[in-house]
Amino acid sequence: MASNGARLFEPINLRSVAVKNRIAVSPMSQYRAVNGYANAWHMVHLGRFALGGAGLVFAEATAVEDRGRRTHGDLGLWDDAQIEPLVPVTKFITDEGAVPGVQLGHAGRKASERRPWQGETPVDEEDVELRGEAPWAAIAPSAIPYADGWPTPDEMTDADIEKVVGAFGAAARRSLEAGFRVIEVYAAHGFLVHQFLSPIANQRRDKWGGDAAGRRRFALEVARSIRANWPEDLPLLFRLSATDWLEGGIEVEETIETAQALALEGVDMIDCSTGGIGGRERPRRMKIEQGFQVPFANQIKNSVGIATMAVGCLWDPEVCEAVIADGSADMVALARELLDDPNWPLHTAAALGANENHALWPPESGWWLMKRERLFSKLGLR
Ligand SMILES: Cc1cc2nc3c(=O)[nH]c(=O)nc-3n(C[C@H](O)[C@H](O)[C@H](O)COP(=O)(O)O)c2cc1C
Repeated sequence: MASNGARLFEPINLRSVAVKNRIAVSPMSQYRAVNGYANAWHMVHLGRFALGGAGLVFAEATAVEDRGRRTHGDLGLWDDAQIEPLVPVTKFITDEGAVPGVQLGHAGRKASERRPWQGETPVDEEDVELRGEAPWAAIAPSAIPYADGWPTPDEMTDADIEKVVGAFGAAARRSLEAGFRVIEVYAAHGFLVHQFLSPIANQRRDKWGGDAAGRRRFALEVARSIRANWPEDLPLLFRLSATDWLEGGIEVEETIETAQALALEGVDMIDCSTGGIGGRERPRRMKIEQGFQVPFANQIKNSVGIATMAVGCLWDPEVCEAVIADGSADMVALARELLDDPNWPLHTAAALGANENHALWPPESGWWLMKRERLFSKLGLR
């Protein structure tokens, strides 16, 4: 499709998957699944982004194990029965010209949490009374709670590790059957894979901990397990927290090595986020402003030679265009901006001169909007 010079609207190939532009819908937990099953909410939530012109539409963090859910409302793919309700969702996204992706994850020590608007605190007996939602035991690389007031997770045994690694592979196979064409592993924001990577959460002395190579082993095994169950011609992404922003945590230099090691396991793109390893307070080094994580995408892309996705506080069309045009990243992912305006990609294409006559809109809307625009100009309104 012609992009009229706007780099944001140039297609990109990820292995055999052609994505029509550089805009991804960042994974957004909806807390609306029941026992991990998708329903009409997921169809409408994700479907509107496909209609809104995003090239790659990611479903939210999807648990590979029951105990790996963050909340009772998380989506899951730990059971074959969870495949079927996702099929119409991925079909709709595909039929509307976007690519359906899924983010596979495990909450580790952040499991059994209340939904954000219920406090993002551990589920307890009060939730049983209020909502019939019981707490469950969490597992983690080390028996270190996520934050003050959180329960201590059980340190994972070798058998636990093997089981979870296998669960990622099984969920990859189910993702394929559900119709997804891209998998992203949730290895950021303090969830299980990140817990293994970060020395703040991983204080093991066996082969799964210690130096960076040891802490990285779990992520690499997860990549291997997925690759063994996911077709060679389909892309695999990892979302990493490039830095923990904390003394004694991961710094970008280590993440660059992790990205290098992941690339050797068949990972095609790094989605570059930051933070989230522990505690509720924002680390002092973390200064939030528009595009504040873009430099990490740039550094990882240009030192490893792997494709990257930039994410976080990206909302301005010109800024997003510049991220692609200056080679900082290959794609951008947006979350809250798209909640505010699911048609942001279409509006952005117009702002960048790449959507003449509403050509990128589904004709069911575009035809009428084009006529309305002509009327506006006739009436001298816009
Ligand atoms: C409602 C909501 C749910 C989110 N759920 C997830 C998730 O499931 N997985 C994830 O990696 N990030 C999740 N995030 C973080 C976003 O994907 C994104 O990285 C973050 O919001 C920064 O991007 P933004 O400034 O465009 O919102 C969520 C964010 C929001 C607003």
